[in-house]
Amino acid sequence: MYCVRNVTEDLYWVGANDHRLTLFENIHPIPKGVSYNAYLLMDEKTVLVDTVDWSACRQFLENIDHVLAGRPLDYLLINHMEPDHGASIEEILLRYPGVTLISNAKAFMLMRQFGFQIDGHPLIEVKEGDTQCFGKHTVTFVAAPMVHWPEAMVTFDTTNGVLFSADAFGSFIALDGKLFNDEVNFDRDWIDEARRYLTNIVGKYGPHIQQLLKKAGGILDQIKFICPLHGPVWRSDLGYFIDKYDKWSRYEPEEKGVMIAYASMYGNTEAAAQALAAKLCEKGMTNVAVYDVSNTHVSYLISEAFKYSHIVLASVTYNLGIYPVMHNFLMDMKALNLQKRTFAIIENGSWACKSGDLMQKFIDEEMKNMTVLNERLSLASSLSAAKDGELENLANALLESVNAS
Ligand code: FEO
Repeated sequence: MYCVRNVTEDLYWVGANDHRLTLFENIHPIPKGVSYNAYLLMDEKTVLVDTVDWSACRQFLENIDHVLAGRPLDYLLINHMEPDHGASIEEILLRYPGVTLISNAKAFMLMRQFGFQIDGHPLIEVKEGDTQCFGKHTVTFVAAPMVHWPEAMVTFDTTNGVLFSADAFGSFIALDGKLFNDEVNFDRDWIDEARRYLTNIVGKYGPHIQQLLKKAGGILDQIKFICPLHGPVWRSDLGYFIDKYDKWSRYEPEEKGVMIAYASMYGNTEAAAQALAAKLCEKGMTNVAVYDVSNTHVSYLISEAFKYSHIVLASVTYNLGIYPVMHNFLMDMKALNLQKRTFAIIENGSWACKSGDLMQKFIDEEMKNMTVLNERLSLASSLSAAKDGELENLANALLESVNAS
């Protein structure tokens, strides 16, 4: 059974939702699912914009068939060929052999590299600034390299102000009937998953997102709809989401607050993390989030690290090193280029406490534009009453730094 929605009078969402996939990119958990968005423009010519993951192809084909209602498919326009969107390209070419494929040189190269049989079909190769007219609608193509792959581009429909934004402005979470941002409570229910999507998938490429935002800035007053490849279509309050993207891609914290990430073997480092959280809240700083790095998938930790201005790392010493899951969190923050945060350190070791110095060294030498507070809480096995002063000093230093940020 088809499942489609109108975006505008002659533009249809023909994508699909996926609640079966456990791990997006086989690495990030998606407990609330994900949507693969594709769009079909019914102009004098019919234009399919992007395809969907192979797992959703059957639904996608039924949707296209319903909207076309017997008309031929004239064009398939590909903004991003990564297989969560491009996997059904071949199936479209097989079912609609007269279709002309529009994309850019890099995308065609990658399609061939993935083994997609595109040669023998009519191809139109476009580059930034080219335009294509489909009847009433004229679109222009804008390169968006590394948002999220090098071939990525976005397409702007100058007739109705629709920006097909590829991975940009996307989010995890299946749409489940909703389509537009004003049909969901985005700030309550979606923002955490939108941040987790962006920071883990494209976080490393902040400067490239900035380039795209700069290009979009030049036509901001003309953009009426943002149609991403995952998550809701934006038709109101565009500034809200653009501002989030701007902050995330400049690595500016979204909120003044403290994320406390602890790595604890027997609960003693955890107890210190909880004691610090309680002390901060007692002193009036209640925007505090505490995470056990052993029980929290690192994609959630990354999202929270992009959200908060301050990060406390509390780790036991393990094999004279940093606890492996904490080390992994540090490596991921580095890989995703996180910057401009203030850290504080809690270390624990029952005989040779090394984790504090090693975490400090990692932050100082491996990461960019980070500050580490001088106040450090050092534990020998457990937090004793003798450490009350150190705990107090650490809480005060964090508060002072948060207030000054
Ligand atoms: Fe949703 Fe980069 O693919």
